[in-house]
Amino acid sequence: MSRLRVAIQKSGRLSEQSLELLKKCGLQFMRSKDKLFWYGKDFPVDLLLVRDDDIPRLLLDGVCDLGIVGENIAQEVMLERNGGSGLNCLRKLGFGNCRLSIAVPEATNAAQGEITRLEQLEGLRVATSYPALTRELLNKKGISTRIVELSGSVEIAPSLGTADAISDLVSTGTTLRANHLRELEIIFESEAGLFGSQAEVSEEKQQLLQLLLARLEGVIQASASKYVMLHAPREALARITELLPGVEHPSVMPLEGSDRIAIHAVCGETLFWEHLEALKAVGASAILVLPVEKMLA
Ligand code: PRP
Ligand code: ZN
Repeated sequence: MSRLRVAIQKSGRLSEQSLELLKKCGLQFMRSKDKLFWYGKDFPVDLLLVRDDDIPRLLLDGVCDLGIVGENIAQEVMLERNGGSGLNCLRKLGFGNCRLSIAVPEATNAAQGEITRLEQLEGLRVATSYPALTRELLNKKGISTRIVELSGSVEIAPSLGTADAISDLVSTGTTLRANHLRELEIIFESEAGLFGSQAEVSEEKQQLLQLLLARLEGVIQASASKYVMLHAPREALARITELLPGVEHPSVMPLEGSDRIAIHAVCGETLFWEHLEALKAVGASAILVLPVEKMLA
């Protein structure tokens, strides 16, 4: 019996949500002593817990079948090792969002020539942990720079005098601010994805993969969906259907002893307070919004 091996980040910004997602797909694991390999109990999917930067290589080398990793890292390794190809993003996962940005030192006085446009980086030194991706994206814009490759603490390179600008991941912007750097331009937007290699896999593994992908789809859709129940005057049905985001055919039930109706629907998009207020304004009452635990289309 074939088993799928999935690589996830051992510790870091993606680890918790990666594991949570797989557990919601019904996967349970037995942890090994070294805690790096987790054996799948009821479903033939095992986990390998590694550094996120290693995940694309593990896929390219055929050590793992699947991996959850940021698109930025997948792109970087593909460009560096494989001419920009070799991995497929099977599903974007909607977490781990960040951006790869070019940042420059804040000018300390007006007389200093401050960099305000990307073009001004021509011929200058850019420090980054993403050399291939940065070079590729800047080249596409017709800018050639001298890439200074660093494996960490990229943000201190300008103040150390080893680079004129940096190309680094930004999520909240705290790191840039703390180092007196200003975000000049976003060059790549990234989120976590489920990646697989483009190599052929056995029929058995392919079937297992399809089953896992279908569950994953259900989990992701369920977490974005809400079950809505409300009462309304019958004549407001069309208006209410319009107001419920992502709903085309709600269930409609008569209410015993009343000329109002009950409307039930699954909303595939986020429901904000504004939506509920708009529903109330067209006559809805007793509005209930419930989470959806599982979904299988
Ligand atoms: C990134 C990046 C910055 C920080 C930015 O590192 O290199 O240091 O996050 O985040 P902020 O805008 O919220 O301050 P990361 O945590 O991905 O570490 P890693 O590169 O070692 O994986
Ligand atoms: Zn990392």
